[in-house]
Amino acid sequence: MSQHHDEPQSPIKTPKQLILAVIFAFLVPIFAIALLVRNVGTNPRDGAGTNAMGEQAVAERLRPVGQVLIKLEGGPLKTGEQVFQAQCSACHAAGLLGAPKFGDAAAWGPRLGQGFAALVNSALKGKGNMGPQGGGDHSDLEIARAVAHMANAGGGKFEEPKAPEGAASAAN
Ligand code: HEC
Repeated sequence: MSQHHDEPQSPIKTPKQLILAVIFAFLVPIFAIALLVRNVGTNPRDGAGTNAMGEQAVAERLRPVGQVLIKLEGGPLKTGEQVFQAQCSACHAAGLLGAPKFGDAAAWGPRLGQGFAALVNSALKGKGNMGPQGGGDHSDLEIARAVAHMANAGGGKFEEPKAPEGAASAAN
């Protein structure tokens, strides 16, 4: 009776096969890790100076697809127009519920006189039929930008507040 017969069946029969198996056992994981590292590393399509690997950008990409509402503190700052389209136009585009209509200088004229800060304050805290932030969930700066966008369309001459130095902005 040969000494091999009692052993569990193994594809490794000769010392040469054993050496090959050991080499493969090392090489395969290393190859897999190398592939993973390459995929996680910098994306060559994003040139120097972009914020592609910034914490925000990465979090943005990793976030679950099904998530509907997310507020990234300090995420890319929306422009006044973007906030307006997303949040304010519901009432202000048509002038619903007594809202001063977008682009209606007669409706905005008397309100502009109280100054930008007061208008922003109304938008942040709510006024009359308008809830705080117009019911939305934006940063204060984004709301201020939306106010400038709307007020200027109604005859105001406010400067849309800029993104803080170094902050990512969707568009300035
Ligand atoms: C649910 C409807 C609604 C939405 C959404 C809404 N507003 Fe208003 N808004 C109003 C109404 C109504 C008024 C008039 C309030 C009053 O004077 O009683 C108003 C007034 C304002 C005024 C003038 C405040 C003043 O002191 O005269 C500003 C500025 C303003 N809204 C900004 C915004 C911005 C910015 C957004 C989006 C982030 C927004 N609103 C979204 C209904 C809305």
